[in-house]
Amino acid sequence: MRVLGLESSCDETACAVVEITGAAAALAGSPPVVVRADVVATQTAIHARWGGVVPEVAARQHVQNVIPVIAEALAQAGLTLDDLDAVAVTRGPGLIGALLVAVQAGKAIAFARGLPLVGVHHLEGHLLAAYLSTADAAGGAPHRPPPLPHLGLLVSGGHSSLVRVHDFGRYEVLGATQDDAAGEAFDKVGKLLGLGYPAGPMIDQLAAQGNPRAVALPRAMLGQRRGLQMSFSGLKTAAAAHLQRHGLPQGEAAMADLCASFQAAVVEQLVRKTALALDQTGLGAVVLSGGVAANRGLRAGLASLCGERKIEFFVAPPRWCTDNAAMIACAGYYRLRRGERADLTLNAVASLPL
Ligand code: KG4
Ligand code: ZN
Repeated sequence: MRVLGLESSCDETACAVVEITGAAAALAGSPPVVVRADVVATQTAIHARWGGVVPEVAARQHVQNVIPVIAEALAQAGLTLDDLDAVAVTRGPGLIGALLVAVQAGKAIAFARGLPLVGVHHLEGHLLAAYLSTADAAGGAPHRPPPLPHLGLLVSGGHSSLVRVHDFGRYEVLGATQDDAAGEAFDKVGKLLGLGYPAGPMIDQLAAQGNPRAVALPRAMLGQRRGLQMSFSGLKTAAAAHLQRHGLPQGEAAMADLCASFQAAVVEQLVRKTALALDQTGLGAVVLSGGVAANRGLRAGLASLCGERKIEFFVAPPRWCTDNAAMIACAGYYRLRRGERADLTLNAVASLPL
C-alpha cells in the first residue's frame, strides 16, 4: 500500500510517499512504514526578515510550491499518481490559509484518481514519526517500531506536551506548557541574540561549544505541585533580563556559553517532567518528537534518563522531527487501517484538539 502525504500547516510545503508492504500491512502489529520519497520546500529564508512566519506570505508560497513538490516526490519514488493507493493530508491545527493549500491539493488528487482520502492531525503526525523507516532499514537491520502504549514527549514550535499514547489514534495529554512552547522559547531567545529565524538549530549548534553552567537561568515549574505542567516564558524573560544587564554576549565563546546555559535550562525542565511522567504512569518507553526533538542536547538528555531507568528511548532522525509529509502519510496510513475515510467535504481547521 502506497500513501501520498501532504503537509502545509506552517512554513513548509511537503509531500512524501510511504509504502507498507502487502502481507505486513494486513498484520495487526506495526509493519514498517517505509519512506519512498520525502520532499520539503522550506520558506524559512522568506520569513526570516520578519523574524517569524507571516501567514498570508506562507499561504501564497504554498500555492506556488505545492505542485512542484508533489511532482518531485513522485519522481523521487519513481511513481505516478496511478501507483498510489491513498492520500493523507494535514487538516489542522495550523495557519488556516496555509493548511487549505495541501487540503485542496489532496482532495483534487483523491477525486481525480478515485483514491481514499484521510485528514490527519499535525501533532499526530509528529507523535508517529518514530514509526517511519527507510528502505535500507527494512531490507537490512530491521527498524524497531516503538511499543504501545508509550510516553510521547512532543516539543515543537507551537506545542510542548507529554502524551500517553495508548494506541494509534488514542492519545491522552498528561501535561503541557502553560505559556510558550519550547520551540517558541528557542526562537524568541534566539531573536534577542540576533540569531535569525528559526533560531533553534543555531542555538543547538552554538550550545555544543559552550558551558551550560556559565549563566545561571531559572528552572521553572519543578515543584511537585506543578505536576506535569510546563512553562518556558519565565526562562525567556530571564534571558532577556540577563541581556539587558550585561548586553549582547561579546565574542563567540560568550555567545556559545549563553546558548548552552539557555538550552540546558530547557532540556532540564523537559527531562525532569518526562521523569515525573514515567513515575506517574509506569510506562516503559519514551518517544521524543516535534521540531525541538532535533536538538542534540535534548536527545542526549532523554537518552541518558531512559538509559538510567532501563527504559527504551525512540526518536526519529532530525529530518522527520521537523515538519515533513512522511509523518503525515504515516499517521494517515494508521487512520486508513482503522477504516477512517474523509470525503470531499474535508476542510482545514486552524485549531483542533489531539
Ligand atoms: O515541529 P516543527 O518543525 O514545526 C511546528 O510544528 O511548530 O518545529 C519547529 C520548531 C522551531 O521553533 C525551531 O526553532 C525548533 O523547532 N527547532 C529546534 C531545532 N530544530 C528545530 N530547536 C532546538 N534545536 C534544534 N536543533
Ligand atoms: Zn510541526
